[in-house]
Amino acid sequence: MKIFTSKHSLGEHLATLRNKSKTIGFVPTMGALHQGHLSLLQIARSQTDQVVCSIFVNPTQFNDPKDLEKYPRPIESDIQKLEQGGCDILFNPGVNELYADNEQWHLNLGELEHLLEGKFRPGHYQGVTQVVYKLFDIVKPDVAFFGQKDYQQFMVIQKMADMLNLPVRLVMCPILREPDGLAMSSRNIHLSHDERQHALVLSKALNWFAGNFEPGKVSFLIGHCKEMIGKEPGVELEYFEAVEADSLLPAANNSSEMVILVAAKVGQTRLIDNLIIS
Ligand code: PAJ
Repeated sequence: MKIFTSKHSLGEHLATLRNKSKTIGFVPTMGALHQGHLSLLQIARSQTDQVVCSIFVNPTQFNDPKDLEKYPRPIESDIQKLEQGGCDILFNPGVNELYADNEQWHLNLGELEHLLEGKFRPGHYQGVTQVVYKLFDIVKPDVAFFGQKDYQQFMVIQKMADMLNLPVRLVMCPILREPDGLAMSSRNIHLSHDERQHALVLSKALNWFAGNFEPGKVSFLIGHCKEMIGKEPGVELEYFEAVEADSLLPAANNSSEMVILVAAKVGQTRLIDNLIIS
């Protein structure tokens, strides 16, 4: 695996690959890699000739400075995992390589920015689009791979790509879970043994919703799931919502394609999860 910290050297290397008509796949991450990230890499490898992964803990998308500070950064083991996973190129820039001082960025994302995650993490998607735009501009991927785990993030990035006519195709990859159902996340390492057990209520509630789903019952099911999560010790629910899969606006009782999304704090750790129902 080739490792670049400079955008110019990476750009030159990618230009030579493009001249040889190689297609470029891109998997952006913030590191602390787990099987979920590595599944994106495998899907990217199966669809493109050369895969670039980036590891960059993007300061502009954190609204809580403590969250940014304690974000795990195990770069040596990440490099090993990417090598074992068959990644061709790692881009691991420092903050000054991507950002100038006092840079401004604003994209009009409309309602999408203020719903769900946007309500609880103001400014988050401005930071996400800012860094993803920069990374797309450097890597110029043919295809970029993102996880369904961050469903709203995918919708926001797709909206940016559409609005700015970016020449990239986005692929949404399924959520990887631990055997007990917990969605894999870099933040799971912050959970104590007990918190980890309590965190299972999130995927259990999503599965209960899906298992009992019938058109016309949406409001009842949401109410029951909120109660279920509310009763779990140490779990503070932020939202549990059923929304239309494309607009992320609240699903009508008779919607046919919807996503159920949940966010909660388990102890000090904020977790998100979701499930698509079609
Ligand atoms: P990060 O949280 O590191 O996630 C990188 C990618 O891995 C995202 O597309 C995310 O949806 C996906 N992912 C995370 N957990 C997953 C799981 N359990 N199964 C499948 N895929 C999973 O998302 C970001 O970083 C950043 O916001 C980024 C896009 C890199 C911009 O900074």
